[in-house]
Amino acid sequence: MKIILLYSSIDGQTLKICTKIQEELVALNHNVALFSIQNFNQTILDYDKIIIASSIRYGKHNIKVVKFIQENAALLNSKKAVFISVNLVARKEEKSQAHTNPYVVKFLNSISWKPKLVGVFAGKIDYKKYTFFDRTMIKLIMLMTHGPTNSDAEIEYTNWVKVTAFAKQVAEL
Ligand SMILES: Cc1cc2nc3c(=O)[nH]c(=O)nc-3n(C[C@H](O)[C@H](O)[C@H](O)COP(=O)(O)O)c2cc1C
Repeated sequence: MKIILLYSSIDGQTLKICTKIQEELVALNHNVALFSIQNFNQTILDYDKIIIASSIRYGKHNIKVVKFIQENAALLNSKKAVFISVNLVARKEEKSQAHTNPYVVKFLNSISWKPKLVGVFAGKIDYKKYTFFDRTMIKLIMLMTHGPTNSDAEIEYTNWVKVTAFAKQVAEL
């Protein structure tokens, strides 16, 4: 199987998740090409499976990912195509699935692509990496959602067992 994994990652957590999925798929004898959406200008026609992944920032998936999906919706619907969303709301068990994560529910309702599989993974908080503005905003969001607010908090919420299980589901698709 020839698989392409297209991702958008600002601080590296979505890339880390995609790299793990790539490793798992390669171990299952799949051929997996990993590309950032930022400089991607090839065709996806040649691939048997397509995985598109994006983190959430301020309530939205990356604009390039959204545009790519809108422009290729028909092709994606004709393929074994998978969507992955990474966000912090997903750290809460009750908001960690495709039908319960508010960003994913809203996004899937707004596009004509119906992914064959959807993965929702919790991301990472690393306040030290953020600009003053972003740190302040994330702290506010965390205050409202009972998350960590201390300036040196660095917490990876990603459930790697879930990521591995998802890669197996992609392999079986
Ligand atoms: C500036 C900024 C805005 C964010 N906005 C949201 C948000 O609206 N909702 C949410 O659940 N997570 C939000 N996050 C959390 C990210 O989705 C999370 O940190 C993720 O791991 C980032 O993945 P990336 O490193 O691949 O970009 C935000 C993070 C940052 C730094």
